[in-house]
Amino acid sequence: MSRRLTLTRPDDMHLHVRDGAALQAVVPFSARQMGRAVIMPNLKPPVTEVQAALAYRERIMAAVPAGSLFTPLMTLYLTDNTTPQTVQAASAAGIIAFKLYPAGATTNSDDGVTDLFKLLPTLQAMAEIGMPLLVHGEVTDAAVDIFDREAVFIERVLQPLLAQVADLKVVFEHITTAEAARLVAAGDERLAASVTPQHLLMNRNHVLVGGVRPHHYCLPILKREEHRLALLAAVTGDASHKFFLGTDSAPHAQHAKECACGCAGIFSAHAAIELYAEAFDSVGALHKLEAFAAHNGARFYGLPLNSETITLVEETQHIPQAYAFGEQRLIPLRAGESVAWRMES
Ligand code: DOR
Ligand code: ZN
Repeated sequence: MSRRLTLTRPDDMHLHVRDGAALQAVVPFSARQMGRAVIMPNLKPPVTEVQAALAYRERIMAAVPAGSLFTPLMTLYLTDNTTPQTVQAASAAGIIAFKLYPAGATTNSDDGVTDLFKLLPTLQAMAEIGMPLLVHGEVTDAAVDIFDREAVFIERVLQPLLAQVADLKVVFEHITTAEAARLVAAGDERLAASVTPQHLLMNRNHVLVGGVRPHHYCLPILKREEHRLALLAAVTGDASHKFFLGTDSAPHAQHAKECACGCAGIFSAHAAIELYAEAFDSVGALHKLEAFAAHNGARFYGLPLNSETITLVEETQHIPQAYAFGEQRLIPLRAGESVAWRMES
């Protein structure tokens, strides 16, 4: 008999769905699995105003297949010009969080923040309201090695931020290192972290050994095996309630990944919960998957748990070579390969 696992419908606390035809192509994948998703605001131009976020929410809702209860949770993109008034207006409009992209850190981050510590009044307004700050935690200093950028961010930005803005709720997004896992596990309850499937399943060899693998290139970049093991230990360990599911599923057209300067981003929404099931099962911790996928994030954000359930079956699922992506093609994680679990429809 194949193993089966029924769990509360999960939430994806870090998701990119883009816009236009791309949005139409990818939203159904998340809507099939997830109850809710925290939607990243790094469109071109970025979603910096409440009205833009509400309009974006409508476009996402229009792409949700009939019968799905999928709910997008909207965020705003923090800039050097975000005011405390914008924070208050965002809260009143049901915006769930602000996203910090250090300027130049990743895809569509050119309008990001150049000096976070010039935004203290805005950050204090967020702390007062209980509005979380979602952090892309990498420094952009050209002198810092790409594999060290997360660890250096902890020292230069995150620890000073937590010290200077008491009570600010922070999600350290898509953590990739033992240092980040340690900080979050040891931190107080206002600090949590999202973890992607790729950082639980792969290390930097998967980007570079046997040839450059553009479809395994994301930011923060995959790290050494010891860091992958530290992340697995964190999401299944004593402080595991501080870590939750956030795929960072980040679709790019095939041609934008397979070129001389390929974009960062891994598309995983087609098999997200199954990929996490593989990762948790690899350390004998499938019983910890439900809390990670469906409880810890909701609790951090102060949301009710989803009332529906989903069921996973341990059955080989073949992943197609590509999906349609408007007029383009989208190469999913495990393209042409398989995943060991399948979510029942
Ligand atoms: O790999 C990534 N892709 N990391 C990010 O931070 C952004 C994302 C995207 O938007 O493509
Ligand atoms: Zn992201």
